[in-house]
Amino acid sequence: LHARLTVDTRSAIGPINRRLFGSFIEHLGRAVYDGIYEPGHPTAGPDGFRRDVIELVTELGVSAIRYPGGNFVSGFRWEDSVGPRELRPRRLDLAWHSTETNEVGLAEFDGWLKQVGSELMLAVNLGTRGVQEALDLLEYANLGGGTALAEKRIADGHPEPYDVRMWCLGNEMDGPWQLGHRSADDYGKVAAQTARALRSFDPGLELVVCGSSSASMPTFGEWERTVLSHTYDEVDYISCHAYYEDRGDRGDFLASGVDMDHFIESVVATADHVRAVRGSSKRIDISFDEWNIWYNERFEKVDKIQGVDNWPIAPRLLEDSYTVADAVVFGSLLISLLKHADRVTSASLAQLVNVIAPIMTEPGGPAWRQTTFFPFAETSAHARGEALRVAVSCDTYETATYGSVPLVDAVATLDAATGAGAVYLVNRSETEEIEVQLDLGGMGDDSSLVALTLHSDDPTAANTLADPERVGLEPNTSLRHTADGWSVVLPAVSWTQIVV
Ligand code: AHR
Repeated sequence: LHARLTVDTRSAIGPINRRLFGSFIEHLGRAVYDGIYEPGHPTAGPDGFRRDVIELVTELGVSAIRYPGGNFVSGFRWEDSVGPRELRPRRLDLAWHSTETNEVGLAEFDGWLKQVGSELMLAVNLGTRGVQEALDLLEYANLGGGTALAEKRIADGHPEPYDVRMWCLGNEMDGPWQLGHRSADDYGKVAAQTARALRSFDPGLELVVCGSSSASMPTFGEWERTVLSHTYDEVDYISCHAYYEDRGDRGDFLASGVDMDHFIESVVATADHVRAVRGSSKRIDISFDEWNIWYNERFEKVDKIQGVDNWPIAPRLLEDSYTVADAVVFGSLLISLLKHADRVTSASLAQLVNVIAPIMTEPGGPAWRQTTFFPFAETSAHARGEALRVAVSCDTYETATYGSVPLVDAVATLDAATGAGAVYLVNRSETEEIEVQLDLGGMGDDSSLVALTLHSDDPTAANTLADPERVGLEPNTSLRHTADGWSVVLPAVSWTQIVV
């Protein structure tokens, strides 16, 4: 098959915010304990954090990291996680039916973030708690000194404020599974009150209000409209969450980016509708603060923990192993985010270590890169400057859910300051390679290009503890100069980056 891609360098979508390459660590399963933190591991530092994991997170190139949940945050008492460790209580985590030891809390996590070079993005509990506790946490975290809470932080060994800039007003409050789940009206009112309170402390805080947990929620659309009607003037972002899984129809799964495109465009339209109704000149952006592939059905049917006497510490939960096909879909989700860089100005890959994660660890053993590690690391490293529109002319295929879908999806990026550019492409065909003729529109210095492709003849191939380097990126040697520009062959079910 053949396709043609034309980059329009005069038609920028928008600047690429570094926060697009954020991630998420929740107190869930082995993300923290036996994940980033394992005192006694051969690579652990005196603070108990694994050096090998720090190196992989750094290599991944993660900007802001959302913490400490997720569903976990809706039952979390932040005071438990600060102060002398020996005094910290053990608590039930009702979201994941586990025991939280609070051995790692705000101070330890902040110390870890400094080592990986990422920014802290905090979520507050609007499930079982409210305005006062959110304000207390803000005062503890961000005030220099002079009040009981700020002095407590100093006495806890942290003289400098954490200066957290970005705050999430709860988590997935539209979901019946969420502790303290509310109607859009009820949540909108609490979120507005909380936002006003936080901003009376610091008007410059960046606030994220909860949108829908997925575009398939029965309240999707109306939830956003109602919540933003209450909070429009008080917040900067509305969140989107989306997880995709192969439910046995790979063609459908490979088209998941179509759903993400539609999700983003629907939320943008809804936010702009509220703006129009209010006659506001302010723009609300999207924080896509949970996105990934997640085999949720397996969690529901197999992994879910139950029993009133069964509350394990750091159980193995949501430890999905990702295939090449998963990573291709994952790469297409990154393309979707970049195609909407004008309005998606923050995003968090959910999650980072062990829990639906690009990085896996074994207690006392190695840490390794899952297949999804590669598209993220490359895109984070090379997608700089502005996202550019591309025109792709290619064949389509029929899907059960999305109808007719283009076989190739793509986006380009260009950093005008350095002249560095990149093109990202996926081939969704399960059987056919596609030769793409590239017209780069004079992008950068296009005399020397480097193409890397993620592909395997077996799309179910994965990196595992037994075989941690089975899948990786390969130079795409088909890339060649032609009379018309460049051409590259995309293998069936593949993700490709071309660096210009
Ligand atoms: O990332 C796993 C879970 O997915 C989060 O805790 C929750 O917010 C979402 O449902």
